[in-house]
Amino acid sequence: MNASMNPNGKYARVGDIELPNRKWPSNKITKAPVWCSVDLRDGNQALVNPMGIDTKLAFFDLLVKLGFKEIEVGFPASSDTEYEFIRRLIEENHIPDDVTIQVLCQAREALVKKTMESLKGCKQAIFHIYNSTSPAQRKYTFNKSKEEIKQIAVDGVKCIKSCLSDEDRKRIRLEYSPESFSHTEIDYAVEVCEAVKNEWGCSADNKIIMNLPTTVECYTPNVYADAIEYFAEHISDRQNIIISTHCHNDRGTGVASCELALLAGADRVEGCLFGNGERTGNLDIVNVALNMYSQGIDPQLDFHDIQSVGELYTKFTEMEINPRTPYVGELVFTAFSGSHQDAIRKGMAARTKMPKNALWDVPYILIDPHDIGRQYEGIIRINSQSGKGGAAYILEQEYGICLPKAMHPALGELIKKAADESQRELDKSEIYNLFVKHWLEAKGNLSIVDLAETHLEGKENSESTSCRAVVEWKGKRYSIGKTGNGPLDAFAGALSEIPAPKFSITAFHEHSIGTGNDTSAVAYVQITCEDGNQYWGAGKSTNVGRAGVDAVVSALNQIK
Ligand code: KIV
Ligand code: ZN
Repeated sequence: MNASMNPNGKYARVGDIELPNRKWPSNKITKAPVWCSVDLRDGNQALVNPMGIDTKLAFFDLLVKLGFKEIEVGFPASSDTEYEFIRRLIEENHIPDDVTIQVLCQAREALVKKTMESLKGCKQAIFHIYNSTSPAQRKYTFNKSKEEIKQIAVDGVKCIKSCLSDEDRKRIRLEYSPESFSHTEIDYAVEVCEAVKNEWGCSADNKIIMNLPTTVECYTPNVYADAIEYFAEHISDRQNIIISTHCHNDRGTGVASCELALLAGADRVEGCLFGNGERTGNLDIVNVALNMYSQGIDPQLDFHDIQSVGELYTKFTEMEINPRTPYVGELVFTAFSGSHQDAIRKGMAARTKMPKNALWDVPYILIDPHDIGRQYEGIIRINSQSGKGGAAYILEQEYGICLPKAMHPALGELIKKAADESQRELDKSEIYNLFVKHWLEAKGNLSIVDLAETHLEGKENSESTSCRAVVEWKGKRYSIGKTGNGPLDAFAGALSEIPAPKFSITAFHEHSIGTGNDTSAVAYVQITCEDGNQYWGAGKSTNVGRAGVDAVVSALNQIK
């Protein structure tokens, strides 16, 4: 059956903008924009439980620590909490000299007055006014013409001017948002902003901020970029205007819209940590900043400990972070697939021989997790889709157990079976315990009851060690003995005296593990039986010879 979801004319493409010589597709992002966090306003107003004053203060301190120089702190005329929060920010000296707070306000006299009152004692602030300009808002919400809507904006500016003393004008900058810009005819949006700018005035020392929001993200990122470039080309006094973006994420392309807008000449970016905000959220500022970092640009924000930022964000907002959220999500530096794990392991291993700042080229991992306080240990996780290399990597990295490469398939099979049975991911201790149970403590037909080895002075190499042992094979006890070129050889030879399958040792590896008094040897042995079947075994002991002997027992105990 053919699936279909025909909109039947209910929806149409939004915002075709005539811009035949658009330049933005050839531009590059080369530096960080001015960032403005709107976590405490747009983010807060979208929360199920809006933040209390103490939480907002703690969040503000975090934003300052992260390096934000412009922070929208609320809508002081809208509630006592918002007002009180701003008073405490000012009175308790939370605002560093190089940080400007921003307050949102509708352009109505009583609200403007209350907002100005909330800013008493504040060294510098951005006064942010907005009114909605789109056809639907003009028609349904306000029932006003284009001229009348433009007049609302101009009157708002007049009202603010009338509430400000000359001194206030020195410390207060203006931001104007034609709300619903994304749905507004572009020429009309320019016309309204032009009128606002003319009413307020602007100069090189007092630039006005024109914030062009995708209040509802309704068009593709390239159209937003067109809108920004078009606006920049058509507004007068461009050099005295800071073009700001405020991208919502209704289509899930807020980050892309913002990035293309930067190509198109936007100077400033509003957004929230991890994309909090109304509906689908605001632009995820962390995402855009670290995208810049991943391309060699200093984002001028500090996310070197992203995990802690994520934890604080969750604590403050009660919002979860999706495990797939770029950079911060629990799973973004994790690989389950075997081929990915293999490539990552090889890429990581290659880096240990490179200078610290060598160009990052580890497959499947966009940036070095260490740069943002994340750990390599979490990179490889094991489930039933994982390959043999992933589990071996974990044993090596976490426990110092370096299996020979030829043994990896046997380990992979063991782990895959366990993951399949449990239908879930295995953690590192489970992988280690499986290795221990299956090989180091392998139970089966053979066990050693007593073992004595003697080094024979003056004997030829092939007879340098004598081994005497009491072993049990299938519950029956045997006293056996042989000489050989070492403990392993002598013991393997002695086993020919019991009715176990005849075998030869076809691979042997060993390494030490631990340090000082805790040093042990780990031995890995592959035996090949007369029927051609091969089995791996492993042994661990403080005595090197005994580790090899135990590995042979472990291998024989794999025969069921
Ligand atoms: O999304 C929006 O348009 C806003 C404005 C107030 C800027 O939040
Ligand atoms: Zn918004």
